[in-house]
Amino acid sequence: MINLDHHTITEAVLARQAGMADPRLREILDSLVKHLHAFAREVHLTEAEWFQGIEFLTRCGHITDDKRQEFILLSDVLGLSMLTVAQNHDKPAGCTEATVFGPFHVEGAPHYELGADIANGAQGIACLVRGTVRGIDGEPVANAMLDVWQSDEAGLYDVQKPGLEQAQARGILHTDAQGRFHFRSILAVPYAIPHDGPVGDLLTATGRHPWRPAHLHFMIQAPGYETLITHVFRRDDPYLEADAVFGVRQSLIADWLPQEDGTYLVEYDFVLHPQGGTAKAE
Ligand code: BEZ
Ligand code: FE
Repeated sequence: MINLDHHTITEAVLARQAGMADPRLREILDSLVKHLHAFAREVHLTEAEWFQGIEFLTRCGHITDDKRQEFILLSDVLGLSMLTVAQNHDKPAGCTEATVFGPFHVEGAPHYELGADIANGAQGIACLVRGTVRGIDGEPVANAMLDVWQSDEAGLYDVQKPGLEQAQARGILHTDAQGRFHFRSILAVPYAIPHDGPVGDLLTATGRHPWRPAHLHFMIQAPGYETLITHVFRRDDPYLEADAVFGVRQSLIADWLPQEDGTYLVEYDFVLHPQGGTAKAE
């Protein structure tokens, strides 16, 4: 294959990779090549612009380490993360909706008894969180594992604080025999996603802000049910309509109720989708 031009090169690349043994890999890479080439043709990409893109991705690579994942952040702000979540968790009405995982989950968070304070020193206004975990037929899910994480009042997760050894505002709890849970933590507040790197520059260049509405992260696991990765959002948050990563769903918004003693209470009931259950009808 010689003398390829901007019309014929796409077919040439597809032909070159046609020997792929894995049919799914072939489907994905063929589509990727077609769309990348179509994009470059559509915008008539210049060499300088191509190099700017390369430099941007290089900066994403350089800033990424075991604590900072700029590529996930890029996927998040481009809406690719939420698109992928939405098309893979198309559950029947009544099941709790999923949303983005985000980069701040930590494996091996501390385990707590029901009623414990998972803030563990994180600064913020005290808040009681309670609710139930049920299946789609209303059955309580006993001993479901809740992995919970959130930022402090400054909008920072524990893993964003250099030198902090202990887990703060994150923990693992289990529902009781009636599927109920309750724990203490701190009031969720809006915060800016990390924007001191190339993704922040992209947000600035595109006239966007880095804010996420206040939320509490949950990952809920129980035998026989699909793992649920989601958030509960604060209804009074100014960024609900403008989440930097497009993760808000109406059904995930709850009231954080101020109490007479200055603390807050939020209640949310989760409904899990059975493993192998049917997806929502189109
Ligand atoms: C988060 O909610 O923790 C998050 C999600 C996407 C990007 C950054 C942070
Ligand atoms: Fe978050």
